[in-house]
Amino acid sequence: MKKSGYPESLQESLANVEKTRSERLKEAKKQKYFPKLSPDEYREVLEKYHPDYKPEERKPLQVGPNKGDMLQPELLAVLQGRPWLEPGSFEARLKSPDLSTDVLVIGGGGAGSAAALLAAENGADVLMVTKLRHGDANTVMAEGGIQAADLPYDSPYFHFLDVIGGGHFTNDKKLVRALVTDGPLVIKWLEDLGMMFDKEPDGTMKELKGGGLCRRRMHSSADMTGSEIMRVLRDEVRNREDKIRVLEFCAAIELLLDEDGAIGGAVFYNLDTEEYIVVKARAVILATGGSGRLHLHGYATTNHYGATGDGLALAYRLGVPLKNMKYAQFHPTGAVFPEQCVGMLITEKVRTLGGEPVNYHGERFCYPLEPRDVEASLFIRECLERGNGVVTPTGRVGIWLDSPMIDMLHGEGTVAKALAGKYLQFKRYGIDIAKEPMLIFPTLHYQNGGLEINEYGETKVPGLFAAGEVAGGVHGDNRLMGNSLLDTNVFGRRAGAKAAEFAKQRQEVKTLTLKHIEKYLKELEAAGIEPEIQSPVVLPDYRHQEVVEG
Ligand code: FUM
Repeated sequence: MKKSGYPESLQESLANVEKTRSERLKEAKKQKYFPKLSPDEYREVLEKYHPDYKPEERKPLQVGPNKGDMLQPELLAVLQGRPWLEPGSFEARLKSPDLSTDVLVIGGGGAGSAAALLAAENGADVLMVTKLRHGDANTVMAEGGIQAADLPYDSPYFHFLDVIGGGHFTNDKKLVRALVTDGPLVIKWLEDLGMMFDKEPDGTMKELKGGGLCRRRMHSSADMTGSEIMRVLRDEVRNREDKIRVLEFCAAIELLLDEDGAIGGAVFYNLDTEEYIVVKARAVILATGGSGRLHLHGYATTNHYGATGDGLALAYRLGVPLKNMKYAQFHPTGAVFPEQCVGMLITEKVRTLGGEPVNYHGERFCYPLEPRDVEASLFIRECLERGNGVVTPTGRVGIWLDSPMIDMLHGEGTVAKALAGKYLQFKRYGIDIAKEPMLIFPTLHYQNGGLEINEYGETKVPGLFAAGEVAGGVHGDNRLMGNSLLDTNVFGRRAGAKAAEFAKQRQEVKTLTLKHIEKYLKELEAAGIEPEIQSPVVLPDYRHQEVVEG
């Protein structure tokens, strides 16, 4: 009997998948797929099944520039949280900062590293402070690829159209223009830094399609593209220790203004020594990443442990508006088995290469590469409404992603090579994804929106910049695959260069203050809000209540 990595209870459904595979394969070879939905059908599916389209699960934000916006309760708690510092008692510490710098970069992921490099290249002394290790970030966990229109029959024009179509025309077009025009330059920059891209035998870039793309423009390093990007960025930052200092395990807990209302620095909490560190800076770049670890609607997430929306809380208190925060991104394919991997990203590249989503009965039920929000909604419908999901031994539900089709379509060994990361990860649990499908369900993946910025990463606070997932507007309400790695690099670089220029031109940083906290606390009080939690959250708390209470 064939050895299976799955328990007995899933064998009946697995047999269904195998039974229908040869017929599905014939169709796939003829490029015949389950039909795509029309734009009207998109809307209907999203409204009925997308976790973020349910108005009853939202409440109004009661303070700040986005007052009245309807947001998820987990985000509201962070944006309306209790600051760590008491302004009155901490103010004296601001008179003698522990460190000072031209450009302070908060966050050590892709955007922060790209920003630090460009700030240094433009003459600034840079201090990068990150709450975990340098590189512990969503960048390192991004798998499938990075978009850039650099093939002869493609152009930034087509890339632009795809981005705004995918974002349901809610994007900030100036930001999209910056994203797509810098794309080819970013790929060249990364390759010059030593990144190993997948190549065709003739040495040209291997480029694939992703959901919502009209051209092949996805550059990759197997299914570990983000990790490869982070490798070269981190190396380069560490090579520039003459200009860039890096401080790890220090969480930003408050931003500082000077008495003229321009940015003045930040206060950090050292997770090792439990001491506060005051940093004075002429310019600050927030690159703190997203908020998947807030587990909106109780969903599992692909995100790293530090993704707790800290930058949103810090900048919102200063009055920086938010954009496109209505819908978070639920990636259609998160693992639901084995239990240790729940929420883990299974790259969209599996579907790009021909791995089909099929239900309990082994049937196709949707076009495999609809835009992510639509695809995720269709999976939810199949499991929760139509009852065609597969139930795991722990009671989770999912559908199959038929990865064995990939080797059958492209030749034996393709899965092991093109999806090397996932292949090895599943092997640890006895599952060979070249021979057996993966069980998947949507997982919270990306903060589509964030802080309002312009095309140089500037926020409305003079000297405060934001780049990467913490910023909003470029992807509108729904990001397409491969545009987050591009976004972190494009806007990290832009913010870094502009912040260096700002720091050079700034005459002085005047007396540092925490007055904005006083104002914010008054606003909370006037709105009758008793903060539920301390914010920023810094790390998710997974302890059971019994443990917390002792
Ligand atoms: O599916 C993926 O590989 C994810 C990529 C992304 O979010 O850009």
